[in-house]
Amino acid sequence: MQNFSYQNPTKLIFGKNTIGELANEIPQSAKILLTYGGGSIKKNGVYDAAKKALGSRAVFEFGGIEANPRYETCMKTLEIIKKENIDFLLSVGGGSVLDGTKFIALAAKYNGEDPWDFMCGKAKSPNEALPLASILTLPATGSESNANFVVSRNSTQEKFGGWSPLIYPKFSILDPETTYTLPAKQTGNGIVDTFVHTMEQYLTYPVNAPLQDRWAESILTTLIEIGRKGIDEPENYDVRATLMWAATMALNGLISRGVPEDWATHGIGHELTAFYGLDHGQTLAVVMPGLWRNQFEKKKAKLTRYGHRVWGFLKSESETATLAIEKTEEFFESVGIHTKLKDYGIDSAEAAEKISKRFADRGLTSESGLGENRCIGPKEIKEILESR
Ligand code: NZQ
Ligand code: ZN
Repeated sequence: MQNFSYQNPTKLIFGKNTIGELANEIPQSAKILLTYGGGSIKKNGVYDAAKKALGSRAVFEFGGIEANPRYETCMKTLEIIKKENIDFLLSVGGGSVLDGTKFIALAAKYNGEDPWDFMCGKAKSPNEALPLASILTLPATGSESNANFVVSRNSTQEKFGGWSPLIYPKFSILDPETTYTLPAKQTGNGIVDTFVHTMEQYLTYPVNAPLQDRWAESILTTLIEIGRKGIDEPENYDVRATLMWAATMALNGLISRGVPEDWATHGIGHELTAFYGLDHGQTLAVVMPGLWRNQFEKKKAKLTRYGHRVWGFLKSESETATLAIEKTEEFFESVGIHTKLKDYGIDSAEAAEKISKRFADRGLTSESGLGENRCIGPKEIKEILESR
């Protein structure tokens, strides 16, 4: 096992009818900016419950943060934050609203010229941020309990991730009943995202970390067991609760402690969203099986373990690893998320060319590339996408 440190300061408030807890968590004197997306919270009662709990506190609102939150949209909040002396941000919605809110929390305290500079690596992340919290309505990203955020810039077709210890939510309210209204596609995206987060921290190479391996396998097995039910029985509380808890546990920093991490599927997937607008979960379902086949020999030991322990195959190493990849593709399809670019009307040769060039332009090589071995460069990215 590798050395590590671990700290996660986010308080999680989980269960039915927990939105009312807002009243105990946010100071009466706070000047709040409530952020939300395209309006789902107004249709399913989450907005009303949040407003009721906030009572007489000063609440300003900013709606319209889109899926794959845009820099251009988030920047519009800075004026109102300054004018109204906002001192607390409350994100109500899915991962996109929350990620956008995390960016806003940092941008509001940034002293440089353009906050995009700390997204694209030109400048350091600010050393101050507005405090924030969330009511989560879509289990997928783990953003409710981590310090990551991903923001897209429309004008340059870029999508970049950031990280700052300052933007862990102070608390997150996870009420599984708020997810009953999710469209099937978003439930499927969330299941795939949770699954792939787990894999990015598991499917690398063995480092004698059996506890971490079993934590990861427990999340994967659970998702396989109940994933389809999440689509077929949208109001099954136990299934919704388990999906929600699984998503948080998959990316709150715990299962990656002491083990290598991959994240190449995410890196390549972000470019598919940036160029073609695919949902985040869809990009992952496309890329990961192709990446595994491309990196088969290097990942064979963990693929085999995964095939044995999660799918129950007891064949030869190569056979078990091969079958495990096929089963994973079937699982993604079973929750309604397609695994081939043509299913989304995208030409794989064109996408391979465009995206591998972008990584080459950024200086990526096969010696200093993506993945746990840093060996996925433009050539490998092209092969992976051509195969999808
Ligand atoms: O905008 P509204 O009207 O709220 O509708 C949303 C949106 O259209 C809808 N929705 C959310 N909750 C709902 C609901 N509809 C009905 N009922 C509900 N309860 O679902 C749509 C998608 O929402 P979005 O927030 O975009 O989805 P998700 O939570 O999957 O977030 C995706 C974003 O998170 C980033 C992705 O790259 C992407 O930009 N990620 C963030 C990570 C992090 N912070 O750690 C890690 C992930 O790997 C990921 O990259
Ligand atoms: Zn993800």
